[in-house]
Amino acid sequence: TAPVITVDGPSGSGKGTVSRLVAERLGWHWLDSGALYRLVALAALRRGTDPADVQALATLARNLDVRFEVDDSGDPVILLDGERVGGELRTEQTGDAASRVAAHQAVRDALLERQRAFCRPPGLVADGRDMGTVVFAQAPLKVFLTASCEERAKRRYKQLKEQGLSANLHALSEELAERDRRDAERRVAPLKPADDAVVVDSTQMDIDAVLEQVLRLARE
Ligand code: CDP
Repeated sequence: TAPVITVDGPSGSGKGTVSRLVAERLGWHWLDSGALYRLVALAALRRGTDPADVQALATLARNLDVRFEVDDSGDPVILLDGERVGGELRTEQTGDAASRVAAHQAVRDALLERQRAFCRPPGLVADGRDMGTVVFAQAPLKVFLTASCEERAKRRYKQLKEQGLSANLHALSEELAERDRRDAERRVAPLKPADDAVVVDSTQMDIDAVLEQVLRLARE
């Protein structure tokens, strides 16, 4: 096994960007666990799987044919059934559908070993909702990244615009609040900081400041 840094937090907290950069700086592997839930949601949609059929969703999650690679410019590329997944993975609709499939324990169980398999030398930075509480509960460094709801909606808005996706700040803010509520109130793996997590509020911090803080914690 290898050392793990977990970065959990709500939507738009910056955990995806920060953990990818931390992994890059340390030369470690990166697990974007949210992408796995998004991929299950997307695959279910494509195959017309009944969203209420938990067993079918779990089977789909277990057999998901997905590869995480990097392209020539070093950007992450995700292949689902051998085909590159584009912007549809990052839309709020997919995020919302992901949060629904993620509420089923059977789906979470089906993805558990796949997530743990990312832990390889020299180390792993894992981002999600339950990295520090469930999947890598033994991780020596756990970060819980938050920011005000308003700030998170603004960041997500900017991010969607940059990807050429349409977005409405007000609607986005309500969608985020709704998804946060569902993630925090669900019975299985509710979003909450691990007891031994370092809580970082990034409302007033830019990405570089958060990155430096996590790297500082990693050196300690
Ligand atoms: O980027 P953002 O935080 O908006 O979403 P994400 O990390 O891609 O996660 C999408 C959804 O998947 C979340 O709303 C969670 O419900 C679910 N998820 C989860 O349950 N557990 C994880 N480890 C990661 C994501």
